[in-house]
Amino acid sequence: MNNFGLDIWSNNNFIINGDEVQVNYKSSPSLLDITDQIRKDGVRGPIILRFPHLIKKQIRHLYSCFNFAIKENFYKGEFKAVFPLKVNQLPHVVNAVTEAGEEFNYGLEAGSKAELILAMGKSIKGSEITVNGFKDKEMITLAFIAAHSGHNITVTIEGLGELRTIIAVAKESNLKVPNIGIRVRLHSTGSGTWAKSAGMDAKFGLTATEILEAVRLLENASLLEKFSMVHFHIGSQMEDIAPIKRALREAGNIYAELKMLGADALSNINIGGGLAVAYEQHPDAKLHNYSIEEFSSSVVFLLGEIMDAKGVSHPNIFTESGRYIVASHAILITPVLELFTQDYNETLLKLKDINPPLVQELQELYTQLTSKNCIEYLHDALDHIESLLTLFDLGYIDLQDRSNAEILVHNIIKKSLTLTSKINTNELKQLQVNLQERYLINASIFQSLPDYWGLKQHFPMMPLHHLQNSAVRGATIWDITCDSDGEIGFNPDKPLYLHDINLQEEDYFLGFFNIGAYQEALGMGHNLFTHPNEYTININEISYQISNAVESKSTLNILDDIGYDKDKLLNKLKTDLLKSTFITEKEKSDTLSKLETFIHQNGYLRTTS
Ligand SMILES: Cc1ncc(COP(=O)(O)O)c(C=O)c1O
Repeated sequence: MNNFGLDIWSNNNFIINGDEVQVNYKSSPSLLDITDQIRKDGVRGPIILRFPHLIKKQIRHLYSCFNFAIKENFYKGEFKAVFPLKVNQLPHVVNAVTEAGEEFNYGLEAGSKAELILAMGKSIKGSEITVNGFKDKEMITLAFIAAHSGHNITVTIEGLGELRTIIAVAKESNLKVPNIGIRVRLHSTGSGTWAKSAGMDAKFGLTATEILEAVRLLENASLLEKFSMVHFHIGSQMEDIAPIKRALREAGNIYAELKMLGADALSNINIGGGLAVAYEQHPDAKLHNYSIEEFSSSVVFLLGEIMDAKGVSHPNIFTESGRYIVASHAILITPVLELFTQDYNETLLKLKDINPPLVQELQELYTQLTSKNCIEYLHDALDHIESLLTLFDLGYIDLQDRSNAEILVHNIIKKSLTLTSKINTNELKQLQVNLQERYLINASIFQSLPDYWGLKQHFPMMPLHHLQNSAVRGATIWDITCDSDGEIGFNPDKPLYLHDINLQEEDYFLGFFNIGAYQEALGMGHNLFTHPNEYTININEISYQISNAVESKSTLNILDDIGYDKDKLLNKLKTDLLKSTFITEKEKSDTLSKLETFIHQNGYLRTTS
């Protein structure tokens, strides 16, 4: 039985029980059951399920690992954390984060004006707010307003220009000055897909010379007592712990040097985000090489060691991990609408009374296939199809012959794979490529898995049911956008196998897991597909509740959002229709009501026929 790498990526959050995937929590509902409940009300497109207990699990584990490491290492500073809003700003996510974070005073990180306003509105009272990214005078003034309104806010400067603006705003206004952090430009770089956030050519941070100049500017403006934080972030989804340790040594030494230079208010080191999530599902795929336990223990130990060596008191440790906190809480579930190679179904074979000799031979190979002869017959079939395609190009066989030949070869390969496991690995890979099935999903990769589209970031995927049957079809996933990039191709080195399903008889649902970080924030409206319907699932000991339903935008609202006047549009559609000739009044009113219904639904497909 294929478990779709559940033991690699699911962190025990999901289990297979019998035929289905279940949430491994309290009453352990099956994902199919939840999906069926939602679809009972007529929902047909993709859905996103949120599990707030998984956000809580991650927040608790982050704090418990760091607090344990602090105790173990006799570290004197505290552990503090903020959630970076850019990772997922949607209301039901931020609410779940702040609710679960309350017991720890978990804060929020903002990287833009809009996120800062959101942080001011949603942060837990007394928790920390950190502000990163490039800022203008308005954004800096907003941070002053936040400080004045009682928020515990630290503005991290990305350049000396920002510091000069802070000094100017402090001079001009009587508003409370926020705490000031400096993002340091490290020569240590990260590793992995998102490792461009550090290194001497990085987009962010101050060089050693600029840091010294910043301290001088702060001192001259009598604001040195506001300089409280050294910040760095070497990249998201850090795969390797070695660069993290190098960066910690560098940033730790900068911190200690600054303390020794008289930055007395400095009391926090912010190590940014970057904790990796297991996205891979194939046993041979490369995973990050550390655990959160190792990560927290290394951070605490190294910082303690550096500070002790320089006689500096231990700083509080801040983290801004986002992916680690929310990736696991959301799943995209989508029905499969169509399987394309059912065109090769044996029932479509239309052999003639007299067939070309090679087609006849293929037919014989197919009917006489056994576990003993199948490798030899398979090679014969592959040889014959090459010749038959050439014969077709030269006009010697017709389209029906070609169709029969393709169906027969497809079925010979398929049957051989079930009859033997002795096919040479390289040949097997190629055969799987030939045999792959295209599963059309009712979703948009651009909207729901943008990091796959942009960066080929793999997300774990698996069917929600049929898990007691073996999945043997090499699978390519096609989405419903009319764009050839909307495809997750079959990779023979990291193959995904799905089930052979007759969709006329039953539904087949696929789940895409660990999509709670960045995907919803980055999702694109390509072809005007929007965010799918979403639901929050709260699980208790005996059952579960579906709440916070947010419907995908209707077609009319999507058009309105991008600047079209929806009333004008609808009127035009109606008048055009009414101008045309109708056979009966009834037909006229039925057609109008169909148009009204379609335009008020979302753009995902509802039927395939
Ligand atoms: C400054 C900063 N902090 C935190 C994060 C969050 O990183 P992650 O989601 O990988 O934990 C980022 C993301 O790139 C970032 O730029």
